[in-house]
Amino acid sequence: MSSVSDHLGPGFTEEASAEVTAAAFDGTPDARLREILQRLTHHVHAFVKDIGLTQSEWEQGIEFLTATGQKCDATRQEFILLSDVFGVSMLVDAITHRVPRGATESTVLGPFHMTESPRRELGENISAGEGGDPCLILGTVRSVDGEPIPDAVVDVWQADDHGFYDVQNPGTTPAGNLRGLFTTDPKGSFHFRTIVPAPYPIPTDGPVGMLLERAHRHPYRPAHIHFIAQADGCRPLITHIFVAGSPYLDSDAVFGVKDSLITAFRTIDDPVLAQRYGMPNPCTVARIDLVLAAES
Ligand code: BEZ
Ligand code: FE
Repeated sequence: MSSVSDHLGPGFTEEASAEVTAAAFDGTPDARLREILQRLTHHVHAFVKDIGLTQSEWEQGIEFLTATGQKCDATRQEFILLSDVFGVSMLVDAITHRVPRGATESTVLGPFHMTESPRRELGENISAGEGGDPCLILGTVRSVDGEPIPDAVVDVWQADDHGFYDVQNPGTTPAGNLRGLFTTDPKGSFHFRTIVPAPYPIPTDGPVGMLLERAHRHPYRPAHIHFIAQADGCRPLITHIFVAGSPYLDSDAVFGVKDSLITAFRTIDDPVLAQRYGMPNPCTVARIDLVLAAES
């Protein structure tokens, strides 16, 4: 009579499938990898049994994953997009970046941080184009206990007023447009000029787009600006600010919105402020505090 541990033999039955297959990974030397493989086996087998996966559905699943892999290249990562629309990217982010109270919350990196942002002086305009509502971003980087952090590096990138990143229009938009790498001043402050971003769809020309269509889900993200803030002794922060009032704040295709990241972009009528920062008056202003957790 065979036992569950005879996993390579006739012990494989519908009932014992998970135990038998998981046992085949018993010899994995790396303990964490072994745990992942064995727990994955249990979850996948439970899923297949739970929904009674048919041969034809299995084939469609394999075809879908094959197409997902084939869509990937040096600049396109369809598997991450798949993880994004299943909420897995945000779940991993939540588990990995449990921050202390008061620290700025993190969110997904997204696929458009693919080029190094150009170094820029504080106050520079990161928008080379004519279009869009001019906007001033006034920011600080500080620690959870309120101390300003000088010399912090703040990487910024955003879509234009039509919802496109520079890399999506390589012929027409100069590389580095709407991107910038800033260093905070002695008071931990930074500021730059830009335009108010627009909501935009995640890339839909691949299997993930097809999946959203089949599921009658829209592909849009609410208007946002991406930030990575880094400073000595602090945990790097990957986050966005979302434009308050933007469409899709309550239905982001990748589940990236957190209430604390929704930021007012206010129209300010203040000629002194406008002149000081080289803005038209009145102008749109958003303020952001990036609060970094200490390195653990
Ligand atoms: C983005 O914000 O750039 C993004 C994030 C996740 C998936 C697609 C786009
Ligand atoms: Fe984005």
